[in-house]
Amino acid sequence: MYLTNVEERMLNGEYGYARALALKVIVRVGEALGAEELVEVSHAHISGISYLNIGDAGLEFIEDIVNAGGTAYVFTSANPYMVLSDFLGNKHDDKVINKQLRIVDALNRLGVKFYTCVPYNVRPPRYGEHLAWAESNAVLYANSVLGALSNKEGGPLALLAAITGRTYKSGVHLRDNRVPEVLFNVKVSDGVDLGFLGLIIGELTGSKVPYISNLRFKCTYELKQFLASLGTTSNTPMAVIQGVTPDYKELIRGVEFKDVYDLGSESIKSYVKEFRENVLTGNGLYLIGCPHLSFNELVEVLRYAVGVVEKGGSSIDVRGRELWVTTYEGFINDEVVKLINKLLRYNVKVVTNGCAVVSRLDSIKVDYVVTDSVKASSYISRLSRIPTLVLPRVDVLNTYFLNKINY
Ligand code: F3S
Repeated sequence: MYLTNVEERMLNGEYGYARALALKVIVRVGEALGAEELVEVSHAHISGISYLNIGDAGLEFIEDIVNAGGTAYVFTSANPYMVLSDFLGNKHDDKVINKQLRIVDALNRLGVKFYTCVPYNVRPPRYGEHLAWAESNAVLYANSVLGALSNKEGGPLALLAAITGRTYKSGVHLRDNRVPEVLFNVKVSDGVDLGFLGLIIGELTGSKVPYISNLRFKCTYELKQFLASLGTTSNTPMAVIQGVTPDYKELIRGVEFKDVYDLGSESIKSYVKEFRENVLTGNGLYLIGCPHLSFNELVEVLRYAVGVVEKGGSSIDVRGRELWVTTYEGFINDEVVKLINKLLRYNVKVVTNGCAVVSRLDSIKVDYVVTDSVKASSYISRLSRIPTLVLPRVDVLNTYFLNKINY
């Protein structure tokens, strides 16, 4: 592999032992994948930092790297981790929480600036910027919406990229690999949950870059949900979307698609049914914020919730239920705090830095989950083995406060 002068010196230890070791691994992986050179990245985003997922081996890996002098060479952020607060008084074991805090402490020492799965809402990359991001929804958003370039890195590799500011140049860092191979003609009516459409397209496209034509998104929320779902069932780091991807016209010029799918509302509705058949009893977690809410989404959700409780008055009874709204901690300002305070007695928690999906909800006695996120539903039913129900966001809130499952 060709290395620049700086990279040679880094490999030889002039930038410290940890950087040399990290670069060695990146070069090896790159060579195995046929990369001819490395690429400088401006922002690394690490995933896989929940103790419940990575265990003692992951904790030791991160601590060892930091104790060996590993510090961020470029701007670095990380995914949220297990939720540390309780659910209706039930908490994770103190030992587990302490180990999670050790992971966060090590990452803070490394130089992680913030913990959220929407790094694009906090530090939006510019068009053409090279990144080493490891969270699927964020990678899809960066490539498909912002025109930045990032492969879907593995969590440890993104950490090594943070320390070196480099990753191997392959995949969608190369223009040719951004050209779509599968065409999806989408004709869906208003009101169809595009999160489900993302799952279907993900399954059909596999690891190939899809081109999605005729799909209109009414708001960024729909786009985020669609891409998060797409990343749940597929490995592709990117979707070329008509009218959304900045250079979609150039990317599809001259492409003759061999695989073409026509998708309408009917194919989605029959799929949705499977997600609405669970019987929900016991204590319920209502979840909004997978992916994490942007500031505007957060304010919108809280204002809506306040409106419902002001109208419902004393008839509202949320016993056996708790609502988690997950977001980035930097979005909590005075206005948000005022709204949160109006909701405290209704078991509403705004959870920052946390992800319910990686929190083993069964261990804190959650019996079922109601969410607007198809991604959260898919993972929670697998990881925590509890029934889930997906509803539109407004219906999640109405159902939570008014205790009526209405779908
Ligand atoms: Fe974010 Fe966790 Fe969902 S990392 S995208 S809230 S699964």
